[in-house]
Amino acid sequence: MATVTSRSRSLAASLPAALTIAALAAAACDRAPDAPPAAVAARDSAPAAAPTLAVPHDSTIPEGDLGISIRRGRALLTHTRDSLPRFVGNALTCSNCHPDAGTRAGGLPYIGVYGRFPQFRSRSARVQVIEDRIDDCFVRSMNGRALPREGRDMYDIVAYLSFLSRGVPGNARVEGQGLTMLSVTSGDTARGATLFGIECARCHGANGDGTAAGPPVWGPRSFNVGAGMARVRTAAAFIKANMPNDRRGTLTEQQAFDVAAYITSRPRPDLPGKEHDWPRGDPPPDVAYPTLAAARKAAATPR
Ligand code: HEC
Ligand code: HEC
Repeated sequence: MATVTSRSRSLAASLPAALTIAALAAAACDRAPDAPPAAVAARDSAPAAAPTLAVPHDSTIPEGDLGISIRRGRALLTHTRDSLPRFVGNALTCSNCHPDAGTRAGGLPYIGVYGRFPQFRSRSARVQVIEDRIDDCFVRSMNGRALPREGRDMYDIVAYLSFLSRGVPGNARVEGQGLTMLSVTSGDTARGATLFGIECARCHGANGDGTAAGPPVWGPRSFNVGAGMARVRTAAAFIKANMPNDRRGTLTEQQAFDVAAYITSRPRPDLPGKEHDWPRGDPPPDVAYPTLAAARKAAATPR
């Protein structure tokens, strides 16, 4: 055990993070049976380093069945509706919100996500595996149905997400991961409507229902009210970093928030059962629907 540790340390000092993990894993093969797993040691000794978002090159996709599965998973995320019509209830693909097949920094990338699950999620108040998280987006963002766990489609999607996370230390934050929340916290729907007409309608349509150049952002063919994108802060952060698609980064934070306030105020599909979200009564402030647990908690709190 001691030998393994010191060898790992010296390797750690001389190698980039991704290689260090590989080295630790290799070193783990000859460790004593009762020694802590190498992954745990790696997490403990090198916690908060945020690796830059490194998109693995296609040439690193393995040959054979695994490679076929990874490529098929990527295709499903990019042609979701056409490939999985029974599970998609709107006109979106996963890549509409996770652009560039989930590899864009600031665009909700999937890189590193595989290692961050299992994860506790407050919306369901339980520990979720990555399949649960994928299905959350199928049910809400895609206004569809959960994909069966044991089917080839789910396996292929997981294979692709896992491929994108290769080399990222387990549970590490990756630069460009998720969305950067804005410091602006309120928006004006009237200003947002005007801005939508000027900056967004040419691709998303004057009535938000989408055109050949951009997917629907509200209406019956859009994500439902239970989706993360239906929350104004999430939408604002996404829009600030990613829209207008051909002139990214040109909106001010206030403009992004205004137009997000407008979009999230528009009608969209409902999500039956949404009142059971956040069963511990801790919904974020921008959730646009009442939840039962929060109401119970408020009633029980003395004023
Ligand atoms: C309408 C936009 C939208 C679409 C479409 C969408 N997602 Fe998401 N997805 C989000 C948002 C927003 C988040 C993160 C914020 C949240 O959870 O509220 C997210 C998070 C995720 C995560 C977790 C990412 C992380 O860093 O923890 C995974 C995995 C994921 N989505 C997979 C999918 C898959 C697979 C599809 C297609 C079946 C899909 N998403 C379609 C908006 C979308
Ligand atoms: C040049 C065309 C174009 C313009 C202009 C544009 N978008 Fe988009 N938008 C897209 C495309 C294309 C996607 C899907 C991303 C992808 O596939 O890479 C998208 C995705 C989105 C999404 C997430 C997916 C969905 O349908 O909900 C939102 C929200 C969004 N845009 C809002 C806006 C807002 C707000 C503006 C104006 C500030 C805007 N867009 C301007 C083309 C555009």
